[in-house]
Amino acid sequence: MKIAIGCDHGGIALKSVVVTVIEELGHTVVDQGCFAKDSVDYPDYAAKVCEQVEAGNCERGILLCGTGIGMSMAANRRPGIRAALVQEEFSARMSREHNDANVLCLGARVLGPGLAEDLVRVWLTATFAGGRHQLRIAKFSD
Ligand code: RB5
Repeated sequence: MKIAIGCDHGGIALKSVVVTVIEELGHTVVDQGCFAKDSVDYPDYAAKVCEQVEAGNCERGILLCGTGIGMSMAANRRPGIRAALVQEEFSARMSREHNDANVLCLGARVLGPGLAEDLVRVWLTATFAGGRHQLRIAKFSD
């Protein structure tokens, strides 16, 4: 898969960890920035990543900010984006199996690198169960 990744200055510390896991799993990273620690606005990077997913250029997106909260709020405003803010492995798996999340949001000031790596691994490996879950997603999708 092609995975778009984006972060703000609060999330940049985790980006290299996430990129490494994505590539270890055999996927391709499409890096939408930011690329420095200067202060930037997280909605700009949420938009860049979501646009890649919406356009079909990337199957999934991963967004990193300090808490993951702002990125998840911004991403979930967009039709077709189902962004999951995740802090433990059960939710990472369920966001794929039940919610077909196409964007994962992580907080670099919340998670250690080891946990973040596990969350990305689980999220990229789990598959959507479909069936009744698809019907439920259709109820809030255009
Ligand atoms: C930036 O300081 C911080 O507000 C941002 O990374 C994020 O945590 C917002 O939700």
